[in-house]
Amino acid sequence: MSSPRHSGTSLPFGRLCADYYALSAPLTVEYPDVPYYREALSTLQGRILEAAVGTGRLLLPLLKAGYAVDGADDSPFMLSHCRAAVERSGLVSHLHLADIRSGAFTGRYRAIIIAFGTFSLFADASSADAVLRNAWRHLDDGGVLFLDIPQAPSGSTTPRSLQQSRTVTGTDGTTIVMHEVVSPTARSRITCHRVRYEEWREDRLLACESQHLSMRWYSELQIVALLRSVGFHPVSTVRNFGAATLDPGWGEILSIAAHKPLLHRRAAMPN
Ligand SMILES: C[S@@+](CC[C@H](N)C(=O)[O-])C[C@H]1O[C@@H](n2cnc3c(N)ncnc32)[C@H](O)[C@@H]1O
Repeated sequence: MSSPRHSGTSLPFGRLCADYYALSAPLTVEYPDVPYYREALSTLQGRILEAAVGTGRLLLPLLKAGYAVDGADDSPFMLSHCRAAVERSGLVSHLHLADIRSGAFTGRYRAIIIAFGTFSLFADASSADAVLRNAWRHLDDGGVLFLDIPQAPSGSTTPRSLQQSRTVTGTDGTTIVMHEVVSPTARSRITCHRVRYEEWREDRLLACESQHLSMRWYSELQIVALLRSVGFHPVSTVRNFGAATLDPGWGEILSIAAHKPLLHRRAAMPN
């Protein structure tokens, strides 16, 4: 019997991870962040970038609502799902294979969105700082950076240790099993996430892939202070996309609108 193929081990979001994500978060469902963003963007005129766009779970409904949204992601596997979905829709989006800490995009954006807790995956301070400064460089003066930050249960700084498994099935009958172990680390507010994806057809293991992520659990005060330290002002927050509660799978989410001040341009201009 041949041994299973290990794919994409050097990339945190590899082929099996992307296929699992596409099957577990299909584009046919309306997620609770979609109406929030449709409304939040309605007063802004201009181009939008979804940084770390993934499979297009949020980008697609925003394109369908008439917004001009580009996407950037450093996983070719996630991006290829997104590209296929955009093509199927007949709509247009410029999709960039790029690291959002350093990628250079043409022109500036009226809004940049980093959705679905992705900013918290830049757990070390220098990566988080690089993401925010790169977003700042690519925003118009007066533009807005939107971030969604998962919140730890009240009274704690991280969620409890957790083990979970979930299986999804593709249209060809292939299944992908995801096993995740979440554990606290010695570093305050950082959890370690070890994820394994297995691709099965009947009782044959076709491929497996490991993913090791860290996640920082910001309090509201910490994330607002971090954004202000980069120059964003004002920074406003709303819980759970304005809904009373979310589906338990989403936990508690803090959504942030961080404005790049118009004043910035005037201050930088010579007399
Ligand atoms: C949790 S998914 C979110 C996808 C999408 N924004 C959504 O809301 O469904 C996180 C995404 O971040 C991307 N990503 C992680 N690190 C990145 C980096 N340094 N530069 C660009 N994309 C990155 C991953 O490839 C993945 O597609």
